[in-house]
Amino acid sequence: MMLRIWLNAVLLICGHFCNATGAFVGVNIGTDVSNMPSAPDIVAILRAHQITHVRLYDANAHMLNALAKTGIEVMVSVTNKEVLGIGELASTAAAWVNKNVAAYAPSTNITSISVGSEVLTTLPHAAPILVPAMSNLYKALVASNLNYQVKVSTPNSMDVVSRSFPPSTATFNTELNSIMIQILQFLMNTKSFYMLNAYPYYEYVKSNGIFPLDYALFKPLAPVKQIVDPNTLFHYNSMFDALIDATYNSIADLNFSGIPIIVTETGWPWFGGSNEPDATSGNAEVYINNLIRRVSNDSGPPSQPAVPINTYIYELFNEDKRPGPISERNWGLVFTNGTSVYDLGLADAEISTGVNSSSSFCIARPSADEKSLQGGLNWACGHGQANCAAVQKGQPCYIPDTLQNHASYAYNDYYQKMRGSGGTCDFGGTATTTTVDPSYGSCSSNSTLGGLFPSSALGPVGQSSDSTRTAVGLHFGTMVAAAAAVCLVI
Ligand SMILES: *[C@@H]1O[C@H](CO)[C@@H](O)[C@H](O)[C@H]1NC(C)=O
Ligand SMILES: *[C@@H]1O[C@H](CO)[C@@H](O)[C@H](O)[C@H]1NC(C)=O
Ligand SMILES: *[C@@H]1O[C@H](CO)[C@@H](O)[C@H](O)[C@H]1NC(C)=O
Ligand SMILES: *[C@@H]1O[C@H](CO)[C@@H](O)[C@H](O)[C@H]1NC(C)=O
Ligand SMILES: *[C@@H]1O[C@H](CO)[C@@H](O)[C@H](O)[C@H]1NC(C)=O
Ligand SMILES: *[C@@H]1O[C@H](CO)[C@@H](O)[C@H](O)[C@H]1NC(C)=O
Repeated sequence: MMLRIWLNAVLLICGHFCNATGAFVGVNIGTDVSNMPSAPDIVAILRAHQITHVRLYDANAHMLNALAKTGIEVMVSVTNKEVLGIGELASTAAAWVNKNVAAYAPSTNITSISVGSEVLTTLPHAAPILVPAMSNLYKALVASNLNYQVKVSTPNSMDVVSRSFPPSTATFNTELNSIMIQILQFLMNTKSFYMLNAYPYYEYVKSNGIFPLDYALFKPLAPVKQIVDPNTLFHYNSMFDALIDATYNSIADLNFSGIPIIVTETGWPWFGGSNEPDATSGNAEVYINNLIRRVSNDSGPPSQPAVPINTYIYELFNEDKRPGPISERNWGLVFTNGTSVYDLGLADAEISTGVNSSSSFCIARPSADEKSLQGGLNWACGHGQANCAAVQKGQPCYIPDTLQNHASYAYNDYYQKMRGSGGTCDFGGTATTTTVDPSYGSCSSNSTLGGLFPSSALGPVGQSSDSTRTAVGLHFGTMVAAAAAVCLVI
């Protein structure tokens, strides 16, 4: 499962060298988790998975310290509880910015503040104080000379839109108009963006079968089932696009334009109760992989084709302490030990399409069974004399703690040392070569350094690549598309 980390380099290479304006996919880190790993361990997991953008639901000091000098971009949040005080007193806002943003700059790359969570729909009585809170924070950023690098906005759910289909006729709930106009004016004046929490999962479940599941999962639809907006004749390939367009149209309805939307939350639960039949790991895997593919193509929704849809996946870990239906506790992408919850890569076939016969790295095959992998790993670290120190507990290549990861490390160490004298990359058929440098974070395949990379760099320095697409912030594995190198990874 964890194989992909090693392949992620593709992505990373793109992340650094591809289209700098490309869309990113980041991850939300919720904290209602028993056995929450320590902040350094969370950061190790992020780095191992090549996640380059995160959103925190607060401004946790341990996390912000651990994220320093990682290259990971961070969105911090003002909690709903804090909104009131910050809206009432400019000095409270200034103190918040000093303590939670300025104190970490520039080491920790905080690039935005999300103010509250769905305040308009979950805490309507706090709505009047929301824009004052945003303005106070903005003024505090100006005073700290951080307003150009740190944007202020507030996430809204789709519930602020009265009827989202067809997108062309969507409008905000009229009773929210006056507050929404103030929010949009603020976003416009400060060159910020609209934060949208968009969940095709919930829309699909609510729609009672009106929309096909495939539409929610970004799967191709049969011609008779295509979703077309009757007014614009735009074809919607996915509900995700339609929800974003409904929001763009609601904004336009209030005569605002030029405010980009970023999706602060989207995802799919991978497990649910007996009354939640669509919360399956199969659906979650399809949704997340297709989402990354969708965002990474850099296009916007039909009404705004040139505006990329930066997106944060909900969420890194299962929040097992959350109340509510079973699905509520099962949105995580990885377990707290760093293992992916479901498979987020493609099969061998796709991987090898990217591989050149003069490939120079050796990794474990994603499809190899555990027993054979364990055999290969034992051989590499034993008779093969690979230096396996770096994959021992506490060492830089230990996390993610998976057989795939450890075997890939050992195979590559062996291969780099022995290929010159005839060593092969086979390991009982469990290994395969790749041109993509599998190193990540503090774990590098650079055997001349005993397997360790100076830990300052986030991941490998890319070698060549004809990859041309997108900077994607999330890399759990690799989907190397057949033809052109596509920087699509998870
Ligand atoms: C922080 O992120 C922004 C946006 O990607 C980037 O332009 C900037 O160079 C980063 N700053 C640091 C110090 O890494
Ligand atoms: C938007 O502009 C149109 C045309 O100028 C106007 O009729 C309408 O009242 C405006 N809507 C709002 C909310 O200002
Ligand atoms: C990107 O995605 C959009 C929406 O699914 C699609 O219409 C468009 O054709 C895609 N573009 C490319 C170049 O794949
Ligand atoms: C493989 O890589 C080598 C060296 O970079 C290059 O000369 C060769 O054309 C590549 N072969 C294929 C099939 O891409
Ligand atoms: C990681 O945790 C999950 C869930 O507890 C478990 O199923 C999996 O086996 C663990 N992986 C490793 C390598 O320990
Ligand atoms: C490995 O480290 C050496 C020495 O610092 C460096 O010259 C080389 O480029 C590194 N190789 C890779 C693949 O990073």
